[in-house]
Amino acid sequence: MMKSTIIYEQDQQWIMFGRDPEKTDGIIDSNQYMIKKGERAIVLDPGGIELFSPMLSAVLNHAKAHEITDLFASHQDPDIISSLGFWDKAMPEATLHAPWLWESFIKHYGCENIHYNPIPDEGMEMDFNGMELKFIPAHYLHSSANYHVYDPQAKILMSGDIGASLDKSMPESEQSIWVEDFDSHIQHAAYFHQRWMPSEKAKKEWIDRVRKLDIEIMAPQHGKLYKGEMVTKFLDWFEHLEVGVASNKERQMKRYETSKREVTSAA
Ligand SMILES: [Fe+2]
Ligand SMILES: [Fe+2]
Repeated sequence: MMKSTIIYEQDQQWIMFGRDPEKTDGIIDSNQYMIKKGERAIVLDPGGIELFSPMLSAVLNHAKAHEITDLFASHQDPDIISSLGFWDKAMPEATLHAPWLWESFIKHYGCENIHYNPIPDEGMEMDFNGMELKFIPAHYLHSSANYHVYDPQAKILMSGDIGASLDKSMPESEQSIWVEDFDSHIQHAAYFHQRWMPSEKAKKEWIDRVRKLDIEIMAPQHGKLYKGEMVTKFLDWFEHLEVGVASNKERQMKRYETSKREVTSAA
């Protein structure tokens, strides 16, 4: 069973789905999110084909089928949106908000009924049943057209693959959803960011953009979520991490140790 956790509840609800102990082996555990405002809901990065059934039953515990009017895909990856063909049959009236650059690619997953709303490079703001939602550009982090979702009222940034971690020390279904010890957590994120994020320039631009936002929760698509001071710690750490490096893991870890020292001495 897919677990669902309400991470914010005021005028709107933010619900996180994931940590399914019965998930297929050999694939990455992912976090899916849904924002529900009144009688409308948007599913963010709905996930892979393999988890469509548990996802659908989990979201239907929180919203009626006709209330799920919108989907969002941060980028084109299979763990993000390869389930599209099934959503397309289940919610034919829905709208998918996704990068304009990936439109003719994402449609290969099956998009005959759903309306594709192409998000322009500069991002987009939209009114969602009376709440404000912003699609914040995060291009080349890691996908060449990529967006994060910011809710200024809840102060939540859904950050896609940024902040992602893979901690294999225990089953993810038994782990806390929140980062508690930053230093031990970030070891499970370092290699992923160095290897998958190709551009220092894009990284710096994104950090500048995101530092201007008021963020209480940073919610990535894999692993634990960052809350309060953990968000600032992550941004400081990421700023000092060299990205766009494909070499062996030991070298990556050494670089990580160095960057950690730089962060500590800069603090
Ligand atoms: Fe990805
Ligand atoms: Fe991912």
